[in-house]
Amino acid sequence: MKRPILLHPDPRLKKVCAPVPDLSDELRRLADDMLETMYNAPGIGLAAPQVGMMDRLIVLDCVKEEGETPRPLIMFNPEVVAASDEMNTYEEGCLSIPDQYADVTRPREVDVTWIDRDGNAQRETFDGLWATCVQHEIDHLNGKLFIDYLGPMKRQMITRKMVKLKRDRARG
Ligand code: NI
Repeated sequence: MKRPILLHPDPRLKKVCAPVPDLSDELRRLADDMLETMYNAPGIGLAAPQVGMMDRLIVLDCVKEEGETPRPLIMFNPEVVAASDEMNTYEEGCLSIPDQYADVTRPREVDVTWIDRDGNAQRETFDGLWATCVQHEIDHLNGKLFIDYLGPMKRQMITRKMVKLKRDRARG
C-alpha cells in the first residue's frame, strides 16, 4: 500500500528516529509499503520519517537502467561503520523536497551494517550512487536533509519555495 510522503518543512523530518528493537509483521509491512511508495514516486531511496514513521528504517534501489534487474534493499538500523577519505559530488534530490536539486559532497565509499527483512545482520561496501543514496537516507533518520549541506541562502530559498508549494497544494 502506498503511503503519503511528507513534504519539507515538517517537524517530523527534523527528528532523530528510534532504533528498531525487534522486527514485527507491522514493520515488514511498513518496509514493503515504503518500497512501493518509493518505486511509485519514482525515487531511488526513502526513509521511514518521510512517511511519518519515526523508526530507523530505510529502503533503496539505485538500479536505474531500463531492463536491469531491480535490487530492492530494506535496511533496519542501518549504520555507516567506515567511510573513504575520497569524496564524491552528486546532484541530490529528495522526495520530501520535490523538484529541487543541489550538489552535495560525501564520502565516495561507505561500509554499512544493517538488519535485513529476515532479521539477519548484513554488511556491505557501497560506492557511486549507492553510497550517496544510502548516506542521504541514513541522514533522514537523524533529522538531516540534503539541503542542510548547502549554504544558508540556498537552503532558505529552497525552503521558501517548499512553503509556497505546500500552501498551494493545501488550497487544492
Ligand atoms: Ni531524501
